[in-house]
Amino acid sequence: MAINYKDLGLASTKDLFAKAVEGGYAIPAYNFNNLEQMQAILLACVETKSPVILQVSSGARKYANATLLRNMARGAVEYVKELGYEIPVVLHLDHGDTFELCKDCIDNGFSSVMIDGSHHSYEENVALTKKVVEYAHAHGVTVEGELGVLAGVEDDVVAETSSYTKPEEVEDFVKRTGVDSLAISIGTSHGANKFTPAQCTRNEEGVLVPPPLRFDILEEIEKRIPGFPIVLHGSSSVPQEHVETINKFGGALKDAIGIPEEQLRKAAKSAVCKINIDSDGRLAMTAAVRKVFTEKPAEFDPRKYLGPARELLKELYMHKNEHVLGSANRA
Ligand code: G3H
Ligand code: 13P
Ligand code: ZN
Repeated sequence: MAINYKDLGLASTKDLFAKAVEGGYAIPAYNFNNLEQMQAILLACVETKSPVILQVSSGARKYANATLLRNMARGAVEYVKELGYEIPVVLHLDHGDTFELCKDCIDNGFSSVMIDGSHHSYEENVALTKKVVEYAHAHGVTVEGELGVLAGVEDDVVAETSSYTKPEEVEDFVKRTGVDSLAISIGTSHGANKFTPAQCTRNEEGVLVPPPLRFDILEEIEKRIPGFPIVLHGSSSVPQEHVETINKFGGALKDAIGIPEEQLRKAAKSAVCKINIDSDGRLAMTAAVRKVFTEKPAEFDPRKYLGPARELLKELYMHKNEHVLGSANRA
């Protein structure tokens, strides 16, 4: 029997996005695959009084089991109540690639799905997205579409190069598909190696500065679909302190470069109302775990290394909500 997200106490993105566009901030969309990630996300968002989008990729579904993840999301709503401050919690499918996957999520309590048809031709993307929207809307579920291709790895799909969103396509795409939000490509990319050092310049302190996001394209898009909710994927900033900790304790990350926080702050003030962050959380967890493994090699209780990882992850998310996305105190 199908389960509707309302029965799980989950929130829709509809009002959240409208308020975020109006208020000049972005809702955090954090990926989770396990208990500690979910705890850190919820603790951080309750403490900062921020709405939150819990994102599940198809890789996460394979890793953690779809039934368990759904029940974790049900538990998330109760846990938030128990923490004493009720924030809206959205359960979202990240990078859905087929109608069947989106349908399965809609039938299993997700309140929002992404259909990522960006790797198809324009017309195929329109047709696939429209099909998902029709099914989703019949169940009160919102849909995120994507136009333009981000470089990097998304599940099993690797895109070597990005192609920016063409502003002249957005109006037609939104009208014909009926999507509720649109992910665009303006220079962000997935993973921890978003730019090569050769693509960056150096500031006076010798620190690598990546090329700025294409705000000109964003502005052009906003002119064509004023107030329409825009989504940014690939928005990790790759905090260098975590990269350094990882490498100090035996890691081998090379040329790990992310999107500078001030660029994301600027984007969050525009029609960008959802910002996706996954890699930064992976870096924080890995840094904390590596530190414990090196400093306490006799430790073998998972709680003794996953606990510190959860703590660092929570700090990271609180920082994002308060100082990057501006979502703190919006719930
Ligand atoms: O955009 C991709 C997200 O970071 C999810 O990554 O597919 O490895 O779970 P994943
Ligand atoms: P990052 O790899 O930059 O964290 O992007 C995550 C993302 O876009 C999830 O959809
Ligand atoms: Zn993404």
